[in-house]
Amino acid sequence: MNWVDYWNGKPTIYVSARHQQAHDAVVAACIAPFVADASGCVLDFGCGDATRAHLVAERSAKLLLWDAAPSVRQRLSERYAGHGKITVLSPDGLAGIEAGSIDLITVISVIQYLQPSELSELLTNCQRMLSPRGALIIGDVIPPDVGMVHDAWALLSFAGREGFLPAAVTGLIKTAFSDYRTIRSKLQLKTYSQSEIVQLLSSHGYAARRLDRNLGHNQRRMAFEARLPGAGSGGAVGDRLKR
Ligand SMILES: C[S@@+](CC[C@H](N)C(=O)[O-])C[C@H]1O[C@@H](n2cnc3c(N)ncnc32)[C@H](O)[C@@H]1O
Repeated sequence: MNWVDYWNGKPTIYVSARHQQAHDAVVAACIAPFVADASGCVLDFGCGDATRAHLVAERSAKLLLWDAAPSVRQRLSERYAGHGKITVLSPDGLAGIEAGSIDLITVISVIQYLQPSELSELLTNCQRMLSPRGALIIGDVIPPDVGMVHDAWALLSFAGREGFLPAAVTGLIKTAFSDYRTIRSKLQLKTYSQSEIVQLLSSHGYAARRLDRNLGHNQRRMAFEARLPGAGSGGAVGDRLKR
C-alpha cells in the first residue's frame, strides 16, 4: 500500500462527517483570500473531497480540482457536476493546462505524501502553469519536530471549538488501531524545516516566504507563498491572510 492507495480507500483521518465539514470549511476560508480577484483561475492540487470548494469558486473565474486518488476524483465529479466554475481534472489533466494560465495554485496538506522526486516534478510543473502574477501556496507542511501527539492535540482543540469532541476522542482511539497508524509508521510522512522548503522553492526558481499562519487548523504546521521572479510582491496577499 502507498499513500494514494490509502486515500483511495476509506481513510479514517476524518473522525466524523462534522469533522470533514469543519475541516473543509477552514481550508476553503483560508484559500479564498488568496484569490486575487474574480478573473483569477485557481488550481487546487491534491484537493481531497473539497466539499466547500464552491466557496473558493465563488471568488474566482475558474477552479480546477486535481487529486491523485481515483475514488476522490469520482466523488468530486459527482459533487460538482454541472457547476459552472468548477472542473475536476482527469489524471493527465494537469499536462493539458495552458502554460502561464493559473493565477493561484494551492497544495494543502499534500507534500507530506510526496516522494522528493514527485515534489520536485510538481514544483517544476507549477512553474510552467503559473501566470506572471500567480502564486503557489503550499500549506500544512509538517516540521520535523511535529508528530502524531501534536496532531492529536491539535485535533482535540479543533474538535472542542467545532463541537465534535466526543467523535474526536473515539476517532483517535480507532486511529491508534487503524491502518493509518500502520501505514504512517511504515511509509512515513515527509517533514520539512522552514529553511528546507524555502531552499527547495528557491532551487526551482521561486522567491518564497513563510506565511504568518498555516492554512488549516494546526498552527504547528507551516504555510509558504512562492512566486516567480518579476511577479507581484504578495504583500497584499499576506495582509489578507492576517485579517
Ligand atoms: C490530507 S488530504 C488533503 C486534502 C486537501 N488538500 C485538504 O487540505 O483538505 C491529502 C490528499 O493528497 C492526495 N495525495 C496523496 N498522495 C498523493 C500523490 N502522490 N500525488 C498527488 N496527490 C496525492 C490524496 O489523494 C489526498 O486527497
